[in-house]
Formats: sequence, structure tokens, C-alpha cells
Amino acid sequence: KWWKIDENQLDKKEAALNQAANLLHNEEVVAFPTETVYGLGADATKEAAVAKIFVAKGRQKDNPLIVHVASIEQINDYVTEIPEVAKRLLAAFAPGPITVILPSNGTIAANVTAGLSTVAFRIPDHPVAKQLLTVSQLPLAAPSANKSGKPSPTKAEHVIHDLDGKIAGVVDGGATGVGLESTVVDCTSELPVILRPGGITLEQLRTVVDNIIVDQALVKQVDQPKAPGMKYNHYEPDAPLWLVAGDTTFFQAQINQLEQAGQKVGVMCSTELSTQLTARLLIPCGSKEMLAEVAVNLYDTLRFFNKEKVDVILCEMFPEVGVGQAIMNRLEKAATKVVHQQN
Ligand code: TXA
Ligand code: MG
Repeated sequence: KWWKIDENQLDKKEAALNQAANLLHNEEVVAFPTETVYGLGADATKEAAVAKIFVAKGRQKDNPLIVHVASIEQINDYVTEIPEVAKRLLAAFAPGPITVILPSNGTIAANVTAGLSTVAFRIPDHPVAKQLLTVSQLPLAAPSANKSGKPSPTKAEHVIHDLDGKIAGVVDGGATGVGLESTVVDCTSELPVILRPGGITLEQLRTVVDNIIVDQALVKQVDQPKAPGMKYNHYEPDAPLWLVAGDTTFFQAQINQLEQAGQKVGVMCSTELSTQLTARLLIPCGSKEMLAEVAVNLYDTLRFFNKEKVDVILCEMFPEVGVGQAIMNRLEKAATKVVHQQN
């Protein structure tokens, strides 16, 4: 089922959310919009319901899911404690694109946490997600609603493309806001650890907690990352994606070389760089001064290149400040190589 939620037709909206909530109570999986990306939700207390998420996405069973709840109070039902630092982070940034890892009390289904003694929680800041959580009265385990390994969905169309026929329904709330996933912070050790950069930036986190550690898995390859999901391929478009590390002339030379060799090249870059490059298919993703725009367009652009059946994608390296850290984290995972300029 594909419910289009129109803010102007409140009665229709209520009916759609009631139907979606009913399906969730019947242990079905339903996709819904959050402010980051679309999530694929199931009752987080029911193992059979959660199992359907893994099947629909083709997700590895050792990769735990984030549990979405309506309020901080609700988290108390599922954890042994909420450490002080988690309280501070939630008070500052929830509802919003932050996920906190907390010690589980065992109430959440074991397949949500992949057998770990911790659970990830997030309070989404999207009217449709909030209402679905309120109407259903359920904690919803929800990973991004894409086929595993593919770019996350920022539109209902992306969910349908990947999961049509495999899920009970999609609540369509239009395009999501942030465009990339929440920041995941482990709050179970002495000092909080960033396991995945996301919508809340390091600079923002530092306004609330003095000492925050960046997980080593984000800096270099490690065998056992704390966020199990970090070791799998992610966000990959169909064509190889090359990050271009060099100046404008170097970038242009890469385009020319590939196009002259008969390749269909998709170029994604900042609006600033786009005015200086010539390519048959070039998508400006947003200003280098406004990286939030780039975040919004990132996954949609990768999926657009799939539709265009390009042979190769060339992408600019964005500055790693603010949300640029999350953008580069996703691009580095999506990329097959970095093309370096030789000096
Ligand atoms: O913005 C988001 O976070 C989106 C929306 C739908 O809320 N969700 C999302 O979920 O990105 P997913 O499943 O694609 O990513 C969850 C990440 C994975 O890297 C996973 O390994 C990590 O969170 N994670 C979940 N539970 C964990 C735990 N108990 N300990 C460590 N890492 C955990
Ligand atoms: Mg995901």
C-alpha cells in the first residue's frame, strides 16, 4: 500500500496512519518518512516482525537496528539506565537526527540488537514519523528503507524502487529534510563515542559534551567496528563512483578522457565547481558554503545516475566541516576509488 500523506487532507491522513499502525500491530513492515531518510519500521518488541525487515532489505543479521520512539520517557521502558551524557544529548538534539546507544534491559527483541547488550534509540523529528509512533503506541525498529548496500531513500519513490512487493506499505510524506542519516553516539562507555557521523555535527555535539571520541573505525579500517553496520558496503550506486582529488583542470581532464573513450559520465559537484566544468551530464548538488544542500541531494543524485545508466560517476571531495563530515563518510563508502592529481 502506498499512502500519500497530504497535510491539507487531515481525515485522509488519519485513515492512512491508522491503517499503517494496524499493519504494524499485525507484525508487518511499513516504510515511513523521518527527517533524515525513510525508515522501514516494525514492532521492535516482536522478533517475527523484526525478522521481516532483514528479509525485505537483504540485511546481514549481525547489523543491529535503531529503535524509534516518541519520547525520552518511553526509552526508560527498554533500558537499565539513561547515562547523564545521553540525557544531555537528547535534551539538546531530540527530537532530531541523533541516535544514542544505551544499555538494554532485554525488552527489545534480540534480533533488533543482533544479540548485543545495548540498544540504539532515536526520537525522529518528522510530523508523519511522530504521528505514526503516537498512533501505533509502538517502539519501531527501523533501518533506512533501502535494499542493503544501496543509497538510502530520501523519497517514497526510492523505497518503492528498492522494496516494492517486499513490504506491506509506504507512508509517503514527500522528500525528507536532512537527506542523510542520524549521528550515532555510543553512550555506554565513560566518554561518548561517535560511531557514525550524521545530521548532528561534531561541532554541535561539542557544545553539549566537552569530551567526545570519534570511533577509530571512522578514521581507519578496523576488523570489529563498534557499529557493526560500518563494515559492510553502503550507499553504492550501480556504476563505479570515483572521488576526484585535484583542481578544476584535473577534474576536467578526467571528464574529457572518459567521455572521449565513449563512457557515459555522471558528474556530481558543488554549484561553484559546476560553473567551471563542462560535461554532458553534470548535477550541481548544492553550494560548498551550504553543505546542508549537498546532504539533501546526495542520495537522490546517486539514484538519478542509476536511472541514467551512467558508466562511471565522478564526484568532488567536499570540505569535512559541519555536515561535510557525514557527506564525505558516505561518499568514501560509496566510492570505488579516489583519483589523485600527481604534482
Ligand atoms: O537517520 C537514521 O538513523 C535512519 C532513520 C530511518 O532513522 N536509520 C538508519 O538506520 O540509518 P540503519 O540501520 O541504516 O543504520 C543504523 C546504524 C548501523 O550502522 C548500526 O550498525 C548501528 O546504527 N547500530 C544500531 N544499533 C547499535 C548498537 N546497539 N551498537 C552499535 N551500533 C549500533
Ligand atoms: Mg542504512
